[in-house]
Amino acid sequence: MVHRHLQTIHQASVSEHSLEAYGKLSEALAENPRSLVLDSFCGTGHSTAALAERHPGHLVVGIDKSAHRLAKHPGGSNDNYILLQANCEDIWFLLARDGLRADYHYLLYPNPWPKASHLQRRIHGHASFPLVLKLGGQIELRSNWQIYVEEFGVALHLAGHRGWVSQVVESETELSLFERKYKCSGHTLWSYTTRIIP
Ligand SMILES: C[S@@+](CC[C@H](N)C(=O)[O-])C[C@H]1O[C@@H](n2cnc3c(N)ncnc32)[C@H](O)[C@@H]1O
Repeated sequence: MVHRHLQTIHQASVSEHSLEAYGKLSEALAENPRSLVLDSFCGTGHSTAALAERHPGHLVVGIDKSAHRLAKHPGGSNDNYILLQANCEDIWFLLARDGLRADYHYLLYPNPWPKASHLQRRIHGHASFPLVLKLGGQIELRSNWQIYVEEFGVALHLAGHRGWVSQVVESETELSLFERKYKCSGHTLWSYTTRIIP
């Protein structure tokens, strides 16, 4: 399946609200052109605000489809980030279409879709996976489900990129709400990292 998806570029039928959200991103870049950090599936955007502190010279873009989750964003002290209510696949498609790339791409605790029949909904099983490769940069995926992280690594390997799986360091401050929730319940957390230079 990964091989099949790698041979085609996902032609998203971009939704109206994703197009509108992308307009916000284009405006922010036109006002102040900067390299991008993507925080895909950002939920409430706690991680987006934290990443904006970590990457002060970048524009950090948090993307989530849930208006409900985004409405719970607590605000942040930096102004170098924006939150977009959109489908990640649409924003990835539009960025790739416009020749834009990411310096860093965080994929923190995406929905695991644990049933075998849902494999195609996992990031690496989805038709939009080649877009993640095209956007490139330093990619970090985190999950409490080791298999998901390892599968993602195998898919990257099949696409010709080497990375490494590790445990999220226990003492590290939690990047996101799900990370906090999982740590509090004693889960071991997993990370896959690679660097794609387009
Ligand atoms: C398990 S939550 C993790 C949220 C956040 N990253 C965290 O660690 O707290 C997964 C998030 O992915 C979002 N989501 C799922 N599919 C999406 C898609 N195709 N595009 C954008 N957001 C999506 C959901 O709305 C949800 O907020």
